[in-house]
This record gives sequence, C-alpha cells and structure tokens, in this order.
Amino acid sequence: MRTPALSLLGSLPIAAAALLVGLTGCKPLPPSMPPSQWNAQQARGAAVFEAKCARCHYPTTTKPLHGPGLQALTKVSSMPSGAPPTDDRLADRILHGYGMMPAIPLSDDQLKDLLAYLHTL
Ligand code: HEC
Repeated sequence: MRTPALSLLGSLPIAAAALLVGLTGCKPLPPSMPPSQWNAQQARGAAVFEAKCARCHYPTTTKPLHGPGLQALTKVSSMPSGAPPTDDRLADRILHGYGMMPAIPLSDDQLKDLLAYLHTL
C-alpha cells in the first residue's frame, strides 16, 4: 500500500523542475550574430541602434533596461506586446512610438539599415 505514495514522492522533484522551467520560460533563444559576421548594412544599422536605441534597450539579451531586451527580436513569434515582429510592424513602432516608447524619427536609409541590424539579434 506504500508504493503509490512513494512513487508520488519520487516524482516530486521532476514536477518541481518542470514547474521551474515553465515559470522561468527557459526556452533558449537563438544567439545573436557576432559583429564579425555583419555585412556593411548591418554594421551601419548597429551604429543607428547605438545612437538611437541603446540607451533604452539591450540588443543581445532579453534583460530589460527602460524597454525590453531585444535578443532574437525578429526570430520569435511575437514581441512583448504580442504583435508579430514583422519589418512593417517594427518600422511603425520605431517611427511612431508605442506605449512608453517615444517615436524615433529616422531617414529611410537609417530605418533600412536598422531593420537589417535588428535581424541579426
Ligand atoms: C526612451 C527610451 C526608448 C528608446 C530610445 C527606444 N525605445 Fe523601444 N521601447 C521603450 C519602451 C519603454 C518600450 C515598451 C513600451 C510599452 O510596452 O509601453 C519599448 C518597446 C520596444 C519594442 C517592443 C514593441 C512591442 O510591440 O512589444 C521594440 C521592438 C523596440 N522598443 C525597439 C526600439 C528600437 C529599434 C529603438 C531605436 C530606434 C527603440 N526601441 C528606442 C523605450 C525606448
């Protein structure tokens, strides 16, 4: 009669581990492309990011600064808001602002370069 209780106890650590993974959302994100592999456009975009975004966003982690960390931004199915990270949507967020994020005016070239860079994250 003790076996069911024992096996229940035995499965507790597994349940706890599963819960922990679930809670911390530990699905590893793909790593960002290293700077040594950027093409010229992506490198220009990184400079735009440095000038216009870096004070509020970490690019290569998901740790929040003023806004969410942007690691794997274009590789996940949805952004923190739940919207899909399409170029159109990103351009709209950047040029028009969103919630607590101010609008960031950019030229067409700057925007194209920045989007190319965001795809490396
Ligand atoms: C002054 C700080 C600030 C700057 C500068 C800034 N952001 Fe943000 N960003 C935020 C905040 C805050 C949020 C969260 C907005 C919210 O949820 O209300 C955010 C959200 C975002 C999101 C997520 C949008 C979503 O739908 O979830 C993206 C992508 C983003 N920013 C990209 C950028 C890029 C690219 C730049 C540079 C062109 C930039 N941000 C510049 C503060 C900033």
